[in-house]
Amino acid sequence: MTEEYSPGLQDVVVARTAVSYLDLQRERITVRGYDLIELARTVRFPDVAHLLIRGHLPDPQEQDAFCEVLGSRSGLPEGAIDVLRRLPRDTSAMDALRTGLSLLAGWEDPHLLADPSPEANERKAIGLLARAPSLAANGWRAIHGQPTLQPNPVLGFAGSFLWMIQGRAPDPEAAATFDRVLTCYAEHEMAASTFVARVVASTMADLYGAVVAACAALKGPLHGGANEAAARMFAEIRMRGGAATAEAFVMERLWQGERIMGFGHRVYVRRPDPRAVLMREELDALAERDPDARMHVDAYEVVAEVMAREKGLYPNADLPIGLVLLLIGVPVELFTPVFLCARIAGVAAHVIEQQADNRLYRPRVQYVGPDDLSPPDGFEPSRC
Ligand code: CMC
Repeated sequence: MTEEYSPGLQDVVVARTAVSYLDLQRERITVRGYDLIELARTVRFPDVAHLLIRGHLPDPQEQDAFCEVLGSRSGLPEGAIDVLRRLPRDTSAMDALRTGLSLLAGWEDPHLLADPSPEANERKAIGLLARAPSLAANGWRAIHGQPTLQPNPVLGFAGSFLWMIQGRAPDPEAAATFDRVLTCYAEHEMAASTFVARVVASTMADLYGAVVAACAALKGPLHGGANEAAARMFAEIRMRGGAATAEAFVMERLWQGERIMGFGHRVYVRRPDPRAVLMREELDALAERDPDARMHVDAYEVVAEVMAREKGLYPNADLPIGLVLLLIGVPVELFTPVFLCARIAGVAAHVIEQQADNRLYRPRVQYVGPDDLSPPDGFEPSRC
């Protein structure tokens, strides 16, 4: 046993995987051999989800079959919608989604649920991916007392998702942008949520449990919750007067010892996140069409310059994506749920891989607590 301890498991290799790799030398995110950013530019999110879950990009027949199944399985059981409606109004959209994902296990065929084979896990993964947008959007609708909406698969995966969020058919450019956001979020190697899912899967618990655990991890502001925090920061800068006030805003927070969400990354450290580079281009395209977006993008530039100057940190994906989602009219509360819906594809790929060749995760510790203690003389056991 090695006695070496690496806080936060920094630089520790915890899996052998054929799913993805952050290739720092080439500044590229490799997903099953493909460049994730090239995929975002050239194919649709369902193609990437197929690549992740089924291991290869779909041929035209597989594309049709995959889109068909994503559409036909996208509705929610009425009982699940009832439970969402009974959640307290103060429930967060992310907690509603996590609860909903857990509920869906109860509607799964028990034999399929317990079957850890790659084929069974693929079927469950595709079913969860299909239903997740409906859960995210309708969970949020339910806690806000709004009527739930059925998915609209003719609009495509991203279009139907936006339709359920916004209650109107999305503008095609917004749907295409949203699709690229989903691809950027689909997979990112051993993020905390993916690691947690692999740990759960390694106990041979089912895929639903692993995805629920990933959802719980993704909520944290150091992980998926950063996109919401970034968007709230831009909304606040806008309220204070826009780009001209952005430098003071950031400096104030840094002086107070606060972190600026959407900057820094354990793996990229002081290198650019390729997803942030792509999404920065997306922001320019949005700013060309909308003067209000231009004001936000100007503020984005100031924030990025100040963070580079003061901390030497680059934006991670959550900074531009937070702003992109804000500008295409997704409610801030739904940003992290959107992230999770896309990441189900990557998490499921890891769960399938883990259970196909499993070994239980069971690390050790460096014990730093007291030793050789005994209960004091006369200590009486509790009566409960
Ligand atoms: N704002 C200000 N300072 C920062 C930030 C930030 N966003 N990120 C790191 N630092 C500083 C930190 O204070 C520390 O400085 P010092 O050495 O002087 O104490 C140094 O950089 C190293 O930070 P760390 O926390 O030891 O680094 P880490 O690898 O443990 O943290 C991180 C990585 C992502 C948790 C961190 O950069 C952070 O908190 N970022 C803000 C939250 C965020 O944007 N999360 C999304 C991550 S990417 C998408 C995803 O996976 O969801």
